[in-house]
Amino acid sequence: MDFSLTEEHIMIRDAARDFAKNELLPGVIERDNKQEFPAQQIKMMGELGFLGMMVDPKYGGGGMDTVSYALAMEEISKIDASASVVMSVNNSLVCYGIEKYGSEDQKQKYLTKLATGEKLGAFCLSEPEAGSDATSQKTTAIDHGDHYILNGTKNWITNGNNADFYLVIAQTDREKKHKGINAFIVEKSWEGFEIGPKEDKLGIRGSDTHSLIFNDVKVPKENRIGVDGFGFKFAMKTLSGGRIGIASQALGIAGGAYDLAREYSKVRKAFGTEICNHQAIAFKLADMHTSIEAAKLLVMKAAWDKDQGNNYDMSGAIAKLYASQVAMDVSVEAVQVHGGNGYVKEYHVERLMRDAKITQIYEGTSEIQKIVISRGLLRD
Ligand code: CAA
Repeated sequence: MDFSLTEEHIMIRDAARDFAKNELLPGVIERDNKQEFPAQQIKMMGELGFLGMMVDPKYGGGGMDTVSYALAMEEISKIDASASVVMSVNNSLVCYGIEKYGSEDQKQKYLTKLATGEKLGAFCLSEPEAGSDATSQKTTAIDHGDHYILNGTKNWITNGNNADFYLVIAQTDREKKHKGINAFIVEKSWEGFEIGPKEDKLGIRGSDTHSLIFNDVKVPKENRIGVDGFGFKFAMKTLSGGRIGIASQALGIAGGAYDLAREYSKVRKAFGTEICNHQAIAFKLADMHTSIEAAKLLVMKAAWDKDQGNNYDMSGAIAKLYASQVAMDVSVEAVQVHGGNGYVKEYHVERLMRDAKITQIYEGTSEIQKIVISRGLLRD
């Protein structure tokens, strides 16, 4: 078994690390306070190839493997999880979904722009009454021959206002339940498409999360992805890869919190010595590091499974379930190591703790991951 990274992996990881330190760290607290989208930084990420990392170069992507993507996600998330969720949705949900299941025309028209970061994508599955229960879609797309008419509301949509192209999941035939669901590429400029209010969130406050309202939006038939009725499987298959992205994000949040706690413990003094010399703190660092190492192995295994062409539904769910718990545990402990300073914004760890929580909720809650894992275990 070979645990070593290739030279290319190391190069990509270091490039993401440098970018995060030089471009994302300055201003990250202010953007969090003001709920300000990192527009300039996302533009740079597009130029550097971080928004279409795994896409075939013939469509403008980086042609990299999932391990590279996970490493870059981890590094960006150590510093700014608001920027990394934008990256995650664009890469592993929108670009992947169109590249894997879209038509050649859809790839030429949409993927080429999404992969370079010229345009940004959003993935619209959740609804006010269909979050975890994703088959209960209320949004409808009624077939009118050469086009569909889309009506409904989507909730908690990452990149809701800043995206240009939206993957929208909708019910086309209620009788057929999940087999009557389709996925469509919808453009922001189309008539009847309205951006709803922005959510005021606990964490990842630099990312924009909105509801979206569709009022008789005319969607050309050529914008449907795959054959009629493929939409639910499309969403599930795409989310399986998305979960590797969120697991990497959780790993990065944990790593960022741990790095800060370790550094702080080496300079902060109490009872006549640096606090890392107290076993109460040293053991916390040992526990934090151990759980991060375990999460890293699970994340890398899931990414490797995807690169090998193995099924990654289970390994992605396991990685997300575990890494998101580690992100919570480690960030809470990092605040504790910082004591009173941990509760203060300038020390960063309170933000990481707030950011950690969403990794247990979006792209399938921890409870949903347990459904996926337990069904996988009991299938045969
Ligand atoms: N790949 C392919 N097909 C799959 C699949 C997968 N990973 N998972 C399920 N399916 C298929 C099943 O085989 C079944 O098809 P058949 O009837 O042909 O056999 C069909 O889909 C229905 O499956 P289930 O009966 O298992 O459906 P269910 O109602 O029990 O739900 C679930 C399954 C796993 C709970 C699913 O609803 C789910 O994943 N829910 C969570 C949704 C989610 O992750 N939402 C996050 C929103 S997106 C987001 O957060 C993005 C963002 O902005 C950050």
